[in-house]
Amino acid sequence: MFDENKKIILTGDRPTGRLHLGHYVGSLKRRVEMQNSGEFDDIYILIADDQALTDNADNPGKIRDNIVNVVLDYLSVGIDPSKTTICVQSALPALHALTFYYMNLVTTARLSRNPTVKAEIQMRGFADEGLPAGFFTYPVSQTADITAFNATIVPVGEDQLPMLEQAREIVEKFNRIYGKTLVLPKAVIPENEYQRRLPGVDGKAKMSKSLGNCIYLSDTAKAVKKQINGKMFTDPTHIRIEDPGHIEGNVVFTYLDAFCNDAHFAEFLPEYANLQEMKDHYCRGGLGDGTCKKFLINVLEETLVPIRTERAKWEADLDSVYDILAAGTAKAQETTNETLARVQQAMRINYFENRSIIGEWEKILKEQKL
Ligand code: TRP
Repeated sequence: MFDENKKIILTGDRPTGRLHLGHYVGSLKRRVEMQNSGEFDDIYILIADDQALTDNADNPGKIRDNIVNVVLDYLSVGIDPSKTTICVQSALPALHALTFYYMNLVTTARLSRNPTVKAEIQMRGFADEGLPAGFFTYPVSQTADITAFNATIVPVGEDQLPMLEQAREIVEKFNRIYGKTLVLPKAVIPENEYQRRLPGVDGKAKMSKSLGNCIYLSDTAKAVKKQINGKMFTDPTHIRIEDPGHIEGNVVFTYLDAFCNDAHFAEFLPEYANLQEMKDHYCRGGLGDGTCKKFLINVLEETLVPIRTERAKWEADLDSVYDILAAGTAKAQETTNETLARVQQAMRINYFENRSIIGEWEKILKEQKL
């Protein structure tokens, strides 16, 4: 039953491709820590295939194909299906119904101001080609996701903060009009600013498949090495090893800021006690990019090796992966249907719960005749 003092987590991802290091430091790592803290009453992860369709209507095969990749990525980073419910959005019709009701609680002007959606519209060329109404309104559908699970905590990447802001506004409006029904969700983003916004290996703001600047959690060691040695942007003024180097905008150091700790130095680069010492040497001159990249590869591999091993295990047991997804989705159906029932009751559109409305009808008809 609904209890607003419960601590409930919901997060989600669009299944448009394999998950990468940006997803890992931006959100996945935190989800696993929270899952293992034992502090939460319920934890859900939503594979947002319907949301993914809002800008992939012409390519549903891509979404279908990537569901398995996303589940495998979850399981391999340590999402534990005995603690976290993994479910598929399209199998949760309550979310569609909630979206339709929430649509009336937000104006088109407000939706137009969402900075993340605005940036995505630019990026996808919708400004010229025409904007699908479904894409324009996906923050409303995301509000349905969040509220349907009664989520109080939503650990997401920084780009999702505007979605949470809109969700909170819709919740407040709903509760004002229909009485207190929905819980107010709160976003949780990484504390480390480099983890909040990991750029692509080429230094571009985001990792994106089409830019070819990603390191995927499922990449082989060879592929990781190739991205770093072949594509990772350093300091173009650092030509000879002796030249003084710059840290600002140097992607190798941005990644080290996001991933390395002092223990990595003891293990792989004992000349330095910590990242600051290494940076100081780089700035003075005398530390080569090759050494820095090699260190970064070692640091990343420490995270990636166990993920790869775990993925291989699950890849060999897709029957269990299917069962996990089916069981998670069945549980999510129960939770979301319960919320929909509560919402319809608050909105007084719960006509068929029992026959008590017949009494109301009789009264109305009698009063009309007076
Ligand atoms: N919009 C999110 C993203 O692109 C995915 C998502 C869908 C989500 N529904 C959600 C995230 C609910 C948190 C909560 O990453």
